[in-house]
Amino acid sequence: MIIAANLKTNLTRKQTSEYIEELENYLKKSDSTQEVLVFPATSSLDSFDGGVTVGAQNAYATKNGAFTGEIGLDHLDEFSIKTILIGHSERRHILGETQTTIIEKFNFYKNLGFKIVYCVGEPLEKREAGKDEMMEYISSQYEGIDTEYENLIIAYEPVWAIGTGLTPTLEDIQQIHSELKIKSKAPLLYGGSVKVTNAKEVLALENVDGILVGSAALYAEHFCSMISYADQLTNKQER
Ligand code: 13P
Repeated sequence: MIIAANLKTNLTRKQTSEYIEELENYLKKSDSTQEVLVFPATSSLDSFDGGVTVGAQNAYATKNGAFTGEIGLDHLDEFSIKTILIGHSERRHILGETQTTIIEKFNFYKNLGFKIVYCVGEPLEKREAGKDEMMEYISSQYEGIDTEYENLIIAYEPVWAIGTGLTPTLEDIQQIHSELKIKSKAPLLYGGSVKVTNAKEVLALENVDGILVGSAALYAEHFCSMISYADQLTNKQER
């Protein structure tokens, strides 16, 4: 399974390196077989050796150039970063990123072979507008995206569930995931208020290939517990 932490605008460079060290120690000790991804704040990116894959939360579709406030491929290459989060709802809804910009980023980093965690999910008004409208909205976020790209991971994150403590029911998650699996066979993560208390039941659902965790992942200990749940579920399947 894929267990991913989006650290957002949290943890300084020093805190991030301590955090990743804690995860690395855990992975070594536990012999975990999970794919662990961590997306630190841009200023905390660095070269990290070990089992944790470090990715960027955002980068501009450029090698370098005049794009004030942005980073480009050169900055990711400096730390051998080959993983990127694209289309997160905070970039779409708070920072105003359009589907056109998102497609541009997607194609740029796809052509470089990056592992792309591509986020989709509906805001509350679309959920309340009924199933058809909601699925239509989510479908529009697949437009222009190569859903067969080999290094693609999709994360379904309902906007209203992010940072709110609210989550869809397990039945809802399973149902939406089964519909999204028809659109793309890529591994599909669930994100939005995943906590230590609900991670295991979410991970156990059919068509859930992992989780993308925000606030609860800020505590390395909690995040490691989630990795251990995935290990427990994986071991059970193998038996
Ligand atoms: P929370 O886990 O804080 O709800 O955030 C989820 C998220 O946005 C991960 O990308």
